[in-house]
Amino acid sequence: MGWKRFLGLKKALWCAGAAFALVLATLAGTSVTAGAASTAGGAAGTSVTVESAGAPGAGEVAGVGRSARPCNIYASGGTPCVAAYSTTRALYQSYNGPLYRVTRASDGTTKNVGTSQAGGYANAAAQNSFCAGTVCTITRIFDQSPYRNDLGVGPIGGNGGADAAAIANAVEELLRYLSIVHAQVDRIATEDLILGGQQIRTGDRLLMNLPAGNWDSEFVDSPETLDIARNARGHVAFGYGTHQCLGANLARVEMQVAFATLARRLPGLQLAVPPAELKFKDADIYGMKELPVKW
Ligand code: HEM
Repeated sequence: MGWKRFLGLKKALWCAGAAFALVLATLAGTSVTAGAASTAGGAAGTSVTVESAGAPGAGEVAGVGRSARPCNIYASGGTPCVAAYSTTRALYQSYNGPLYRVTRASDGTTKNVGTSQAGGYANAAAQNSFCAGTVCTITRIFDQSPYRNDLGVGPIGGNGGADAAAIANAVEELLRYLSIVHAQVDRIATEDLILGGQQIRTGDRLLMNLPAGNWDSEFVDSPETLDIARNARGHVAFGYGTHQCLGANLARVEMQVAFATLARRLPGLQLAVPPAELKFKDADIYGMKELPVKW
């Protein structure tokens, strides 16, 4: 019923993901040197310091004047500076989401820099005004694909570090697949509305079935398959709206840390009994009575 429409909306909200190749760039107007760069994240880090106009960067080639640098050459041809750095742009024609995040040294606040238009280059003006008079560091590069495997400051995706993005994806799919809260989440309609072709009147009580929503084939393909590579973001395992689970992000972090630690510390972990012998709780909150394991 209305649930599908509701999920369709949520799915649409989540579908702005993005795989992004590399960025290191800078931006129109100011002569910004990328590469001078102390990297805040250390060897495995991915951050890059972006200098503002003024002092020449350490990456500047001796003897090459500012007028010969990419921004100047492009500017003289009437092309925005960012075009000189062709990797700082959307990979998909329709992509209009964030490309990368900068953190401002002066107050530690962050800004996601997106495209100047769908499918286009980085919004140079937005970064220039945000970083004016201070130094900005790139602290996240957004994946433009629906997988949301963003590249952050290590150890996320770092050399030898845990692949936190992949684990986070697996946790979301587990939440979708198992749903955990099998009780009906209820709401009272505060206005008349039509949901999935059904007339709902003010004061009507609505019961929403979270597992059914998470297994809706309008939300994901083959919902009955556990697929940790799929993008399950937008599931409703934590409910939705004003009363959405307050502990959602704590629960996410707990699972991400616990599963990653278990896999690292006990690589041989496996069931000690055949799956058919596992005993599940008969309760509104989905869980197990016991889980015999060996390693
Ligand atoms: C995997 C673990 C968890 C799941 C699946 C879960 C799921 C849910 C669901 C489905 C709701 C109802 C949402 C709605 O009405 O739309 C809820 C509400 C709530 N959850 Fe969780 N939860 C989890 C962990 C936690 C944790 C760790 C905390 C606290 C540290 C927490 C605190 C709350 C609170 C306070 C509410 C009520 C929010 C409100 O009514 O405004 N939950 N949770």
